[in-house]
Amino acid sequence: MSKASLEATVDPEKVQGWIAKIGSDTSAAVPLLQAIQSEYGYLPRKAMNLVLEGTEINASQLFGVATFYAQFRLNPVGRHMIKVCHGTACHVQGADRLNTSLRHALGLEDPKEDTASNGSYTVENVACIGCCSLAPVMLIDGEAFPNLKGADAQRHLVKHAKNKGEILPGHAGEGDDQPADEKEK
Ligand code: FES
Repeated sequence: MSKASLEATVDPEKVQGWIAKIGSDTSAAVPLLQAIQSEYGYLPRKAMNLVLEGTEINASQLFGVATFYAQFRLNPVGRHMIKVCHGTACHVQGADRLNTSLRHALGLEDPKEDTASNGSYTVENVACIGCCSLAPVMLIDGEAFPNLKGADAQRHLVKHAKNKGEILPGHAGEGDDQPADEKEK
């Protein structure tokens, strides 16, 4: 599946409806972007263009806001979201190793990529999610997986993918739930 096919189909009427409801001056930029992201999981280029056409907000203002706030994404997300906590407690307990393990299973080699090529999962780093005594922890579609050690993260991901009928591009199958860095030892 190409990256282009991960792009959301934007309904112009929906975007025009948000503009009518929220407003069209520059103060509407943040709430309009929030509405778009809430609908599509990111900010599709087509939706951004519709905002530019239907409001007084210019391109540099709109993209300035979109890139300033960490809450906004300019790239499509996968069907499932993995959030790896990188707060202090989780970082100390090896959150980086969770990322390595998960990215291996998702076939993500380019550090700039965070979404599997088949659109199954997106993995992102987040700040403390408030359960530090369970560190290190990750969320898959909002479900918390605590006290992750060794290949636990990848095992949970493989199980989740099986339950959801998803294919993990970097995972060869049974016996490949060991993180790459552990195999090398
Ligand atoms: S640092 Fe990860 S839950 Fe607080």
